[in-house]
Amino acid sequence: MAIILGIETSCDETGVAIYSGSRGLLANTLHSQIDLHQLYGGVVPELASRDHIKKIIPLIKECLNQAQLDKHQIDAIAYTAGPGLNGALLIGASVANGMAFGLNKPTIPIHHLEGHLLSPLLNVDKPEPPFIALLVSGGHSQLILVSQIGEYTMLGDTLDDAAGEAFDKTAKMLGLPYPGGKYLAKLALNGLEKYKLPRPMIHSNDLNMSFSGLKTAVLTLINNLKQQETDKQLKQEMKQNIAKSIEEAITDVLVKKSLKAIEQTGIKRLVVSGGVSSNLSLRNKLNQQKNITVFYPPLDLCTDNGSMIALAGHTRLTYAKYDYNFTVMPRWPLTSI
Ligand code: KG4
Ligand code: ZN
Repeated sequence: MAIILGIETSCDETGVAIYSGSRGLLANTLHSQIDLHQLYGGVVPELASRDHIKKIIPLIKECLNQAQLDKHQIDAIAYTAGPGLNGALLIGASVANGMAFGLNKPTIPIHHLEGHLLSPLLNVDKPEPPFIALLVSGGHSQLILVSQIGEYTMLGDTLDDAAGEAFDKTAKMLGLPYPGGKYLAKLALNGLEKYKLPRPMIHSNDLNMSFSGLKTAVLTLINNLKQQETDKQLKQEMKQNIAKSIEEAITDVLVKKSLKAIEQTGIKRLVVSGGVSSNLSLRNKLNQQKNITVFYPPLDLCTDNGSMIALAGHTRLTYAKYDYNFTVMPRWPLTSI
């Protein structure tokens, strides 16, 4: 059974991991650039690339140490070839191909979203295709029919802001750090759904989603509430209630659309992945649904990481190649792989 080194550098996380077909995940290392970009309220692509260059080799060494393996014991190197930031992707792709060339091992280019989509396979309880995948990250909110591994049909997509983006943008309005999803979820823990926010497209017959209207509604709500205060500032309790109301609105749409996809296809297995799949309110709502089985990645592997790329590499071993020609695809549709 093959041992795969996986490299993820599509955005602001340098992730390296080693997955063994017979023994599962052997090592997982990650460097998050959040502190670096927080100052700017979003990812600065050039800074991301420069940081990946600094961190990637030490992380590979640390990973081999963790797994107690020599680099020659790796059978193939998988790396994220897209979608993502061009410069950031190029760092992972060059290191993967350079190292593989030096070791005379093959490389496997991986689609970042396929990595997320397959990440629940890192759990003991693994989903069997066919299943419906709800992929919710900072850049995507998609419902995908997975007929088998590698065969993906897009059922619904985001028409504007992605779910994670909606969390991040509204969190920013509440003065929370970037990326705000997890901070907003934490704030919502002590809040009540006091404000009824719009659930865009929740009743539309298709499986598409839209969250930009929610952003505008939250901005209006915040401005109105501030006006009513003598010091023109939101009280902590108000912030908690706004956070809860946002979380409820976003998760309601995600749950409703997932159930609609299940109803339309008759497939009762749902896989939820991407950064937003770590949201506990979303997980609770989905877990309460009857007659469906829901699968998630391990909580610490919902956001970007190397493990999902190493695992995806293992499922795509037949695509391993020795030519070391590489290109990255910042906009790579999942359905074209
Ligand atoms: O999958 P991911 O790491 O990166 C992309 O490929 O985009 O997802 C990051 C997104 C961010 O928008 C982040 O705010 C969101 O996932 N996120 C959350 C939570 N944890 C991360 N959103 C809601 N609740 C959370 N607990
Ligand atoms: Zn991602």
